[in-house]
Amino acid sequence: MHQPLDRLELPTPDDLHLHLRDEAMLRAVLPWTARQFGRGLVMPNLPVPVTSTTAAAAYRERILAALPPGLDFEPLMTLYLTDETTAEEIRRAKASGFVHAAKLYPAGVTTHSAAGVTGLERVYDALDGLQDTGLILSVHGEVADPQVDIFDREAVFLERHLAPLLERFAGLRVVLEHVTTAEGVAFVRANRGRVAATFTPQHLLLNRNHLLVGGLHPHHYCLPVLKREDHRLALLQAATSGEGCFFAGTDSAPHGRDAKESACGCAGCFSAPTALELYAEAFDEAGALDQLPTFLAGHGARFYGLKPTTGTVTLVRERWEGPVCAPVEGQKPVIPFRAGEPLSWRALPRSSPPGFGE
Ligand code: NCD
Ligand code: ZN
Repeated sequence: MHQPLDRLELPTPDDLHLHLRDEAMLRAVLPWTARQFGRGLVMPNLPVPVTSTTAAAAYRERILAALPPGLDFEPLMTLYLTDETTAEEIRRAKASGFVHAAKLYPAGVTTHSAAGVTGLERVYDALDGLQDTGLILSVHGEVADPQVDIFDREAVFLERHLAPLLERFAGLRVVLEHVTTAEGVAFVRANRGRVAATFTPQHLLLNRNHLLVGGLHPHHYCLPVLKREDHRLALLQAATSGEGCFFAGTDSAPHGRDAKESACGCAGCFSAPTALELYAEAFDEAGALDQLPTFLAGHGARFYGLKPTTGTVTLVRERWEGPVCAPVEGQKPVIPFRAGEPLSWRALPRSSPPGFGE
């Protein structure tokens, strides 16, 4: 008889899409990620976006300073593309060694994207720089066009913008972040080798009913918005397929409780406290726990040209409830994704500073 796996040892994972914010929020959320992941690709959408290598260096220092003693974590930095970004800035970023991607937010598409790109033709110089240096273009793949239904915004972006862009820049390497649709995974497969995609825990576990049925669930609201069940199943199939173009990026995106539980709530799920548990649950559902190690540590590093992480983390099959709240100094706490709900896996911390996370 087939014995269910009840303990998994994985190479230390990489979170290849992560929002760490700044100041008190950074200090509050960083330890949760650093307990589970050895590296994280840090998104640049601060209120004042990280648009230069100099700003990325300063932000990186603030992240390292916020790390509790005993936790080692490497922030992989990104630049926020604007209409003004130059190829020269991209070359500086590449030369720094610590910037690994430039992030494209179509203006108006999500949190702190107002300074984003207003037309792709305005960033051709920067894209030339990316193509020449081999730095990755990381994409929030949705249109902000008010005429396009929110559930169609990813598919329309691929057809209207990303496909022509790949034709024009034949050497550009792209990560389609937080892919949410069957069209998205098909697009990645059709452009294998130069396009990859990250998957969030919430898009692997939930569909739009979990957002909208039985009341409005603000902690399940993120962008791109959750889609129908058939899309979720397509994502789960892709993530667990073992294909090297698919890997983990949590998109853990903390907002204070007041900003989420509001008449106009912010988009973003704070999944950092139980990210590994949530991915394990999704892979378990698909009967594909054997594919979890390379999805979490391997495929992403290879696409980004990073050396493998060192050390391991352990997951055990155990029923428990994740933390219900993450305190933030001087502010309302952040409510974790699936707070207080039963989980079927538990990650043993890589190391834990005294008194942390209890
Ligand atoms: C992110 C945030 O809050 O910064 N929100 C989200 O819903 N995913 C921005 C983003 O990645 O779109
Ligand atoms: Zn994000």
